[in-house]
Amino acid sequence: MNSFQGSPSLDKQDIWEKDRDHFTHPWTDFSTFKENGSMVFTKADGVSIEDADGRRYLDGIGGLWCVNIGYGRDEIADAVADQIRAIPYFSTFGHHTTAPAAQLAAKLAELAPGDLNHVFYGCGGSVANDTAVRMIHFYFNQLGKTSKKQIISRIDGYHGSTYMAMSITGVKFDHIGFDIDDTLVHHISCPNPYRRPAGQSLEDFCDDKVAELESKILELGPDNVAAFFAEPIMGAGGVIVPPEGYHRRTLEVCRKYDVLYVSDEVVTAFGRLGHMFASEDEFGIVPDIITCAKGLTSGYLPLGATIFSDRIYEVISKPQADGALFTHGFTYSGHPVSCTAGLKNLEIMEREGLCEHVQDVGAYFERRIRELSDLQIVGDIRGRKFMMCLENVADKQTKALIDPEAKIGNRIADECQQRGLIVRPLAHMNILSPTLILIREHVDFVATTLRDSIEAATESLKADGYLPR
Ligand SMILES: Cc1ncc(COP(=O)(O)O)c(C=O)c1O
Repeated sequence: MNSFQGSPSLDKQDIWEKDRDHFTHPWTDFSTFKENGSMVFTKADGVSIEDADGRRYLDGIGGLWCVNIGYGRDEIADAVADQIRAIPYFSTFGHHTTAPAAQLAAKLAELAPGDLNHVFYGCGGSVANDTAVRMIHFYFNQLGKTSKKQIISRIDGYHGSTYMAMSITGVKFDHIGFDIDDTLVHHISCPNPYRRPAGQSLEDFCDDKVAELESKILELGPDNVAAFFAEPIMGAGGVIVPPEGYHRRTLEVCRKYDVLYVSDEVVTAFGRLGHMFASEDEFGIVPDIITCAKGLTSGYLPLGATIFSDRIYEVISKPQADGALFTHGFTYSGHPVSCTAGLKNLEIMEREGLCEHVQDVGAYFERRIRELSDLQIVGDIRGRKFMMCLENVADKQTKALIDPEAKIGNRIADECQQRGLIVRPLAHMNILSPTLILIREHVDFVATTLRDSIEAATESLKADGYLPR
């Protein structure tokens, strides 16, 4: 059986078995996987995806926070096919390039805030962050500040899954059973307003978090600290929006000690919050480096970018120490086909005014999701526009969690799936990050389906004894 792509002759059972027996999936509980295997998806169009049995679902997670312009864009398929015919690949090491790699770099420089005019390409977000670390170390070495190496990031920040990116990641759950580097990376606490000490004002909470960064820099020694990594809104850590002023003030602390500020915009860039980049337009900061991926090509092809300032470029492009090159890069850095997808994606976003659409319909989405706060187990609803999270709790007053055994996030996701909506379970939470092309009718479907699903899941918790009747 070699037919595929949702053709009528697709042998679903065959695909399911091959997948279960040979494809080692990311982020997977292999014990249940061996039994349950995967849902097989075969088609996608607009805001929806379809499984091998022909069931359609509204994709409430945008693939994985990435299919920003929606599915089924022939324009991207055509541009990519043309590029493959013209020149599918050539090395960009040293002094070679292709038109899409150059044009996309210039476009990103135009869109990025401040003097972030230089682009280094990789294949995804983790590598964009690894590149940032290597570039920062090289930068300080070039300046003769060779002790400046330490990295500070936050508990519940997510920065990827390569060794370094996972070390910078502060989601403790993700570290279980693995090793991380703890000689270079240090985590400070998460600026999660919902979990702040009872009775503390948001202003005092913000003061504490900013002071904690400064203390950590002083504890490690400013001469040893190279960079601070932060997502504008933490994504995979539970869509944490920091208190007002947090980013601006942490950037000021970084500036005071010559610590570079890396804004990880792998999720927040390219429209999710209604701007091409959130750092300046949503949070008023111009960092030293922005890392991005996902929405850069809307997931049509893999691509990541590390966008950095003139100041860094001037230093790393000086005649280099003892004949050294900038020995960093990948076979697929600036892959012409991925860059073509990126260019076409940005062209579509601009032409269709997708950021403006998110300002409007994303705001409506946020409003409709926030209406679910009256439900018994919904303790917190947070996020902005098309990046939202529901935190489910046993008791809204005490914020006590539901027994993890109950797998409330999964229960709600399963109920949604039965009703034709995909949402993401994340421990006791549920995350929503749909395509950015949703119209109000879709938003209403998501809000209504979620309400019904949470109510059904709450009843099942009661039936199973996890909540009092
Ligand atoms: C904020 C953030 N940074 C980095 C990454 C890693 O990106 P990738 O999975 O493309 O390596 C992710 C992935 O979800 C992310 O959300």
